[in-house]
Amino acid sequence: MRTTIGIIGAGPAGLLLSHLLHLQGIDNVVLELRSRSYIENRIRAGVLEHDVAGLLRDSGVGARMDREGLLHHGTILRFGGRSRRIDFQDLTGKSVMVYGQHEVVRDLVARRLADGGDLRFEVSDVSIHDIQTDTPSIRFTENGETKTLHCDIIAGCDGFHGICRPSLPAGFIRDFDRIYPFGWLGILAEVSPSSEELVYARHPNGFALLSMRSPTIGRFYLQCPPDENADTWSDDRIWSELHTRLADNEGFRLTEGPIIQKGVTAMRSYVAEPMQSGRLFLLGDAAHIVPPTGAKGMNMAIGDVAVLARALERHIKHKDSQGLDTYSRTCLRRVWNVQRFSWWMTSMLHNFADANAFDEQVRLAELDYVTTSRAAATTLAENYVGLALG
Ligand code: FAD
Ligand code: PHB
Repeated sequence: MRTTIGIIGAGPAGLLLSHLLHLQGIDNVVLELRSRSYIENRIRAGVLEHDVAGLLRDSGVGARMDREGLLHHGTILRFGGRSRRIDFQDLTGKSVMVYGQHEVVRDLVARRLADGGDLRFEVSDVSIHDIQTDTPSIRFTENGETKTLHCDIIAGCDGFHGICRPSLPAGFIRDFDRIYPFGWLGILAEVSPSSEELVYARHPNGFALLSMRSPTIGRFYLQCPPDENADTWSDDRIWSELHTRLADNEGFRLTEGPIIQKGVTAMRSYVAEPMQSGRLFLLGDAAHIVPPTGAKGMNMAIGDVAVLARALERHIKHKDSQGLDTYSRTCLRRVWNVQRFSWWMTSMLHNFADANAFDEQVRLAELDYVTTSRAAATTLAENYVGLALG
């Protein structure tokens, strides 16, 4: 088998790259370990930056997002019993789109298949070869048969636990890592959201987030120990803790509903440098992850896709490899800005076991400042709606 770009992983990064390359007439194949149904039902991120929503729209895969997604012009920060709004629209002229990652994945899969794209689900034993030569290849097993996909370039979009990054020679990658001493218990519930906008709450018991997927489905998160077993959280315990942490002194009322899913996510910041070696390019979670407090993981993955799709077009159509040569540097500049923002939001909003009363007061002062100073609120809003895609 032969193609121009071999893409490993059908998450948002791999699927969008495949779609954008197809629009440029560049042949590609996507290989995915999981089934189509699995990737289309995996609940993850929920907020699309302004320019990410624009990229999906401009590339012809935004119609359902525009119909069913919820456009949010601001968000609420809640702390010390107060609720303060950050008005994205007023501060930046932009907004964000609340639309589940699995919906983005569904839209991209449907479009790739309608366009005759070559997406292969449930492959196994994926390995990459000869990436330092002009003739790299990907070996994999499909329906019990071992196959080789020859290509010009390999896009490693296989997430944090994929095989692409670990295939690089030991010592080639420099890792930057921070593991947080807590996780998030994520909850999906059949309930209409009790707030029109997301609520990020800092509380002595720990962080809580009120988010949503639609006018009838609520999404919530509670800070918890990193190794927490979600089964120790009964529905009553979850609602009781959400009531406590999301309460304010201004009349907020939380509506309850049946809980349909719950699970724990660990929190980590990680960057691999560089994001390229020979003919292998790493994108999205394969190269970097962030704690979800800034709603950035999927957006950062799509930022890499925008840079690589443009560079590949120049390389393949115009024989200009400059974009490929600077791929890692271009992406990493944005990646570190996003890392800083995600780390800052996480530090400001969570309880750290080793923090003392002084640290607590400083964090409350920071929240007070960021919600009352126009300059400070603008830096939050500008990062939240998204920095330029690169
Ligand atoms: P992924 O979505 O991880 O896709 C990688 C794909 O590669 C997967 O489909 C995987 O099955 C496949 N794969 C892996 N190994 C192989 C292999 N060897 N061969 C072939 N295929 C392989 N981000 C936010 O912005 N906001 C959030 O609220 C948020 N919440 C999250 C909650 C959870 C539980 C998790 C896990 C992540 C969350 N994130 C969030 C992060 C966000 O979901 C990721 O940043 C995003 O999925 C990255 O997209 P990706 O395409 O790079 O990787
Ligand atoms: C979500 O809806 O899943 C979500 C929203 C905002 C975040 C993280 C997760 O910061």
